[in-house]
Amino acid sequence: MTPQSYLTDLFSLEGRVALVTGGSSGIGRAIAGALAHAGAKVVVVARRETELAATVEELVGDGCRAAWVSADLGSRDGVRAAAEGAAAVYGEPDILVNSAGINLRPPMGELTDEVWDATMAVNLEAPHLLGQRFGPGMAERGYGRIIHITSQQAHRAFVHSGVYGVSKGGLESLARSQAEAWSPHGVTANTLVPGFVMTPLNRRLSADPAKVTELAARTMAGRNGLAEDFAGAAVFLASRASAYVTGQSIFVDGGFSVH
Ligand SMILES: NC(=O)c1ccc[n+]([C@@H]2O[C@H](COP(=O)([O-])OP(=O)(O)OC[C@H]3O[C@@H](n4cnc5c(N)ncnc54)[C@H](OP(=O)(O)O)[C@@H]3O)[C@@H](O)[C@H]2O)c1
Repeated sequence: MTPQSYLTDLFSLEGRVALVTGGSSGIGRAIAGALAHAGAKVVVVARRETELAATVEELVGDGCRAAWVSADLGSRDGVRAAAEGAAAVYGEPDILVNSAGINLRPPMGELTDEVWDATMAVNLEAPHLLGQRFGPGMAERGYGRIIHITSQQAHRAFVHSGVYGVSKGGLESLARSQAEAWSPHGVTANTLVPGFVMTPLNRRLSADPAKVTELAARTMAGRNGLAEDFAGAAVFLASRASAYVTGQSIFVDGGFSVH
């Protein structure tokens, strides 16, 4: 066996189908790219068509198989349309990545019902509904990988965590419940936990050089996260290699959480 065939056997996603929500930007886009380059057929889901089309164009240009579905994951109907639209492209997914997320950041005292509902719908309810739609089929087929992107704010208060932190704490619990339900049938559910990552979600904080330096100093690696930092962990969690890793929260944060 060559090193190449050993690695292929362990990590290749050839023949797998992946659905990546939020796959048109930031962490989700980097993960969609990683899964596609590792061999999976990838469907990216988000709202804005220009960003979706650009993502798919780049992947197809690299020789990957990828497609997009535009849907609003902020409503139950939107989630259902996204699920059916995505499954219609390459068939039922073996890998579900929930990276779509919003952080509206009002201080707790100014939190309205609307912000609460919008945040919980996209960050927590959509991953739950997609899990309900695809988890049982994965279990029936004996292989599935569910990967949620949570946040350090699932574990600590940080720049007005408010409902955002609540939604991400719930998402980590959801991963454990999904793991409990479907792990006996070859379906794992885990979360990747970012610290501070330089993406469009953080446009305001990223534009403040003093803040960027201060946050980098709080890591052990000495820098803030990049979307590409999630590629390796995502391929691992999507692949055969992680069969015995389930219900876990895996921090990809340069040591931010333990410093
Ligand atoms: N960046 C960080 O420092 C950081 C830290 C901790 C956790 N996270 C988490 O990591 C995940 C990815 O964040 P990111 O930084 O990569 O953010 P991003 O660059 O802003 O990407 C967010 C993605 O979610 C999609 N999205 C948002 N609302 C949606 C909706 N209602 N329906 C469908 N798609 C929707 C966006 O596309 P459209 O707007 O076109 O819909 C976009 O593709 C999020 O769950 C976030 O909470 C990020």
